[in-house]
Amino acid sequence: MNLSRFILVGLLFWGTGRVNASVNSEDIRLLFEKNGVNSLQEEDISRETPALIRLGKHLFFEKALSGNRNISCATCHHPRFGSGDGLPVSLGTGGLGLGPSRFKSQGHLIPRNAPAAFNLGFASFSTVMWDGRISIDPDTGALKTPEKSLNGENPPAAHIASQLRNIAAVQAMFPVTSNHEMRGAPGENEIADAKGNLEVWRLLTERLVGQQNGNSGGIPKYIRMFRAAYPSVSNLDHINFGHVARAIAAYENYAFRADESPFDEFMMGDDRALTRAQLQGAKLFLQKAQCIRCHSGPHLTDFRFYSIGAPQLGAGKGQEAGEPQGEDRGLALITGNHEDNYKFKTPTLRNVALTGPWTHSGSVHSLYDVIQLHTKPVEFCESYRNDPRQYFYKEYSEDFLSLVDSDYLRFQARMSSVANSPSKISLTRDEINDLVAFLHSLTDKSFYARAEAPSEDEL
Ligand code: HEC
Ligand code: HEC
Repeated sequence: MNLSRFILVGLLFWGTGRVNASVNSEDIRLLFEKNGVNSLQEEDISRETPALIRLGKHLFFEKALSGNRNISCATCHHPRFGSGDGLPVSLGTGGLGLGPSRFKSQGHLIPRNAPAAFNLGFASFSTVMWDGRISIDPDTGALKTPEKSLNGENPPAAHIASQLRNIAAVQAMFPVTSNHEMRGAPGENEIADAKGNLEVWRLLTERLVGQQNGNSGGIPKYIRMFRAAYPSVSNLDHINFGHVARAIAAYENYAFRADESPFDEFMMGDDRALTRAQLQGAKLFLQKAQCIRCHSGPHLTDFRFYSIGAPQLGAGKGQEAGEPQGEDRGLALITGNHEDNYKFKTPTLRNVALTGPWTHSGSVHSLYDVIQLHTKPVEFCESYRNDPRQYFYKEYSEDFLSLVDSDYLRFQARMSSVANSPSKISLTRDEINDLVAFLHSLTDKSFYARAEAPSEDEL
């Protein structure tokens, strides 16, 4: 054996030995379990009747739920775009087109990225929105929402709140109350002019099922479908928006479930479900890269809030309250506490490969870059601020590029808020690629078949 062959064989042995010694499937499984991560197939999920799911599917794609009848939930949470819209930040009522090619026209820019709607039917999914402003107590079922009459253990609007038994149902109450998302501007329609959320909900319910037990007004298709979906409600006048939201959630929870990923199979004991790179990535996720510190539990989120310093794109939230254009202080806008500046909810990583662009502002356009952001926040954000174009891998309209916040003082404030992030960890290019491979193992595409828009013959 000549010397170079000897070295080659030696290297091969060293290589395989290293992999076998360092990545043991059972050890990885145990480490995940120690951090509350398991296969979603073992978790409780809410299930509703086919009639309710069918009604919900129609409502999810229904533009009559918006003040000006020009936008539906699906516009911003379309199955084709991983239950998001594929845009950095959403375009609300008045925008035109669908998905990444949707454009502004007369439409309103929404301050944040539209998150995906996967797995909200699981009892363990407790909190939604980037700032966590909507949640359900997994033990008592008590709600926390921007509408006081739904909140607490004895809510004043109990007839509505009692229909809202999972986080998707609670959330579905609110897009219709937002002027820019679905309601429209005051003066444009009766929903936008309504006084308060309860009035918005009453008027929209009437649009669907009319009055006098369906004998006056309403939409015939919905009068039929509500009767089928709620057979125990004897008079349609007793239908309220809680029933509407519950149906929308029934569809979301049925359609947007992602519990059959290779990772779920791996956690159920199938050692061959993950590729070698994905296993390496899983190990990094649990150990060196420290992702598990925040992305823990069955949904790979702890439902808590951190600042990782994500670049800001878009006007930001809180301008009615005097926040400057280009600023989004996240959780601090809810708590009023400066320590919460730029904190956002840890997002679930389930199906994350399908839900780009990423972060609360949709400013980061590859999973590789998301990891760079987490581990080298200052370098990444500095370079992004100087030339965001190099990080825009897709063809978005130039409008989005011009929305990147380049203000230096805000950049500094964001960077100094970063705490707890796994910064100062040096990952090689190969390691980052392994982590990305692992994130892909969380993908379950079976929802495409379940989530299809209602077909003409169903109408
Ligand atoms: C104009 C686009 C738009 C429309 C229309 C819209 N959404 Fe959203 N949705 C968003 C954005 C943006 C957010 C995040 C807002 C935030 O966190 O401040 C969001 C958040 C959500 C979330 C929370 C997900 C999570 O994990 O935090 C769910 C669920 C959801 N929307 C469902 C719906 C439903 C159901 C409808 C219809 C009743 C709807 N959306 C209509 C853009 C939209
Ligand atoms: C300190 C807690 C924390 C740690 C540790 C952490 N993350 Fe995150 N992660 C977050 C938060 C918070 C966000 C959302 C920030 C925002 O939108 O501004 C996020 C966003 C993400 C996203 C984008 C998801 C989406 O839907 O937009 C991915 C992917 C991600 N993290 C993966 C990772 C990986 C991989 C690691 C390990 C290298 C990691 N995270 C470590 C808190 C953390």
